[in-house]
Amino acid sequence: MSPVDADTFKDALASWASGVTVLTTEHEGQVYGITASSFSTLSMDPLLVLVCIQNGNHLERMVPASGKFAVSVLATGQDDISNHFAISGRDPGPELDGFDTFTDQTGCPIVSGAIAHLDCELEAVVPGGDHVIALGRVVGAASDPDKEPLMYFRRGYHGLD
Ligand SMILES: Cc1cc2nc3c(=O)[nH]c(=O)nc-3n(C[C@H](O)[C@H](O)[C@H](O)COP(=O)(O)O)c2cc1C
Repeated sequence: MSPVDADTFKDALASWASGVTVLTTEHEGQVYGITASSFSTLSMDPLLVLVCIQNGNHLERMVPASGKFAVSVLATGQDDISNHFAISGRDPGPELDGFDTFTDQTGCPIVSGAIAHLDCELEAVVPGGDHVIALGRVVGAASDPDKEPLMYFRRGYHGLD
């Protein structure tokens, strides 16, 4: 038995303030995205980032198949986009659920209006309990210095103030 119960674990993690991203991929003309806060920088040489994907999610299958993913870092005011891409039961399709997107190097959709994005080729997939850890080699990136980030803390959205 675990020495820490699930609610205690989740409450402790809810105290970790993070940004919010939309993680996307494109495979054989089909795109899919999920809201993901498990994003981190990993390495400067080479340029690597990581994201964690729940087992059974469409992206767990699609990212290894496509060999690429993009991370859109959401800006203040993009709560509705975060809420949409957290909904279960959606399916991949030719467009990202009607949201405005653009592409950089890999062809993965990037959410318009994001404060930043990182476009990645898949470096490795590592098992991580009920998630997989996808390591991405960054091949495209940009940021908008005039925007502020959407923050997630104690199960709610916040701004920097
Ligand atoms: C703020 C927030 C952060 C999330 N972070 C992650 C994450 O890092 N990895 C993940 O797999 N799911 C994460 N989720 C849950 C997914 O967005 C959600 O399970 C997914 O969109 C459901 O789609 P599915 O039916 O394809 O699994 C997060 C949800 C929210 C609201």
